[in-house]
Amino acid sequence: MDTIVITGGNVLHGEVRISGAKNSALPILASTILGGEECVINNVPQVVDVVTMGKLLRLLGAQVEHEGNRAVVRAGVIHSTQAPYELVKTMRASVLVLGPLLARWGEATVSLPGGCAIGSRPVNIHLAGLTKLGAEVSVEHGYIRARSRRLKGALIYCDVPTVTGTENLMMAACLAQGTTTIENAAKEPEIVDLADFLTKRGAKIAGAGSDIITIEGVRELRGSDHEVIPDRIEAGTYLVAGAMTKGAVVVNGCRPDHLEPVLAKLLETGVTIKVEKEAVHLDASKINRLKAVDVRTLPSPGFPTDMQAQMAALMAVAEGTSVITETVFESRFMHVEELRRMGANIRVEGNRLVITGCERLTGAPVMASDLRASAGLILAGLCADGVTEVLRVYHLDRGYERLEEKLQTLGAAIERRKA
Ligand code: EPU
Repeated sequence: MDTIVITGGNVLHGEVRISGAKNSALPILASTILGGEECVINNVPQVVDVVTMGKLLRLLGAQVEHEGNRAVVRAGVIHSTQAPYELVKTMRASVLVLGPLLARWGEATVSLPGGCAIGSRPVNIHLAGLTKLGAEVSVEHGYIRARSRRLKGALIYCDVPTVTGTENLMMAACLAQGTTTIENAAKEPEIVDLADFLTKRGAKIAGAGSDIITIEGVRELRGSDHEVIPDRIEAGTYLVAGAMTKGAVVVNGCRPDHLEPVLAKLLETGVTIKVEKEAVHLDASKINRLKAVDVRTLPSPGFPTDMQAQMAALMAVAEGTSVITETVFESRFMHVEELRRMGANIRVEGNRLVITGCERLTGAPVMASDLRASAGLILAGLCADGVTEVLRVYHLDRGYERLEEKLQTLGAAIERRKA
């Protein structure tokens, strides 16, 4: 397995271009199978999760071609309605084919995602919603089995605003008979992106981005082109890198409106931020120490849990004590022990991290446990004394496109050591 090797201490300067959002590309690709016509998806990040989604769609019988950041999918015929354990265990987002398969082909067998490094991640709300739409749903031998004649529109209340749950139900409802209302829906920008794509294909969706989404079912969806929105988590990660190294970075090709909670917290640390239409400039070059700030992760429009590990790394070198409260996932703290190995002063109290910043972290070999934890460790390495080796890089490759190359452009001493 590859290792990322970072020699800390370089101040980051320059511009970086943000890739398409992984968490938008995945549901959009899954939704292509809702119709038989060609869909051309642009700005698809070249990351391992996207490759896995491509494999899954091909296994189902769709034709999928990737050319750089463009994916072309034709799902005229489906040979299989089964998402096997071998794929789902490597990527939980595989569960996103459940709704589309059921809606278009009347059946779906999808492996139940297993344990996860960031806490228990049930799919009960996905299943309860599909049942409301008239499907017979059971779990047998580790697989979700769902069957239905044409789904029927219904009122669905989500106990928790789940992102992929809302996406699965929205996709399924597109082809249902009658009107579906999803209450307490997730409001993430990725939900809006998926709704925009589905609408271009003839779906009738209102309210995406609010907590009530209404979908009037149609008989079929046509093909369409689409451009995936920029990745707000990738953008946030580079902004934190600029802040932690006391540098000045510009993230280009981003959506500043999707970054508001992150920008608000970064501003509190003392950095200067200038927002343009599609760019954010962050300047931390005149700051001696960043200030500690408290952060609470929440569903959108709150502070994203996918930026929690990166903020924990930043707080590890800030002046003062901060409290980071994780409310979305029950135990998304696998980065903490590794940050401690680099000298961070972090105490875990239930779902809170109490972090007292230190002047300097020290480089060490560390182990990544999930995608965003890995990003947090990379950031810590960038400003640590000496060399940090981040092992288990495959987590990073799942969701960051050309991370080392982009950080090198900003002046970081980072390289990949091939296994
Ligand atoms: N939940 C339930 N029941 C369900 C579904 C969710 O109780 O049926 C709970 C979860 O346990 C969690 C909360 O609801 O406590 C929110 O989870 P959600 O379902 O929204 O998460 P997800 O859809 O599985 C997506 C992203 C994650 C991101 C979360 C939260 C994709 C492919 N994944 O996951 O992204 O952390 O939303 O914003 O969109 C990542 O990119 O690193 C990542 C983990």
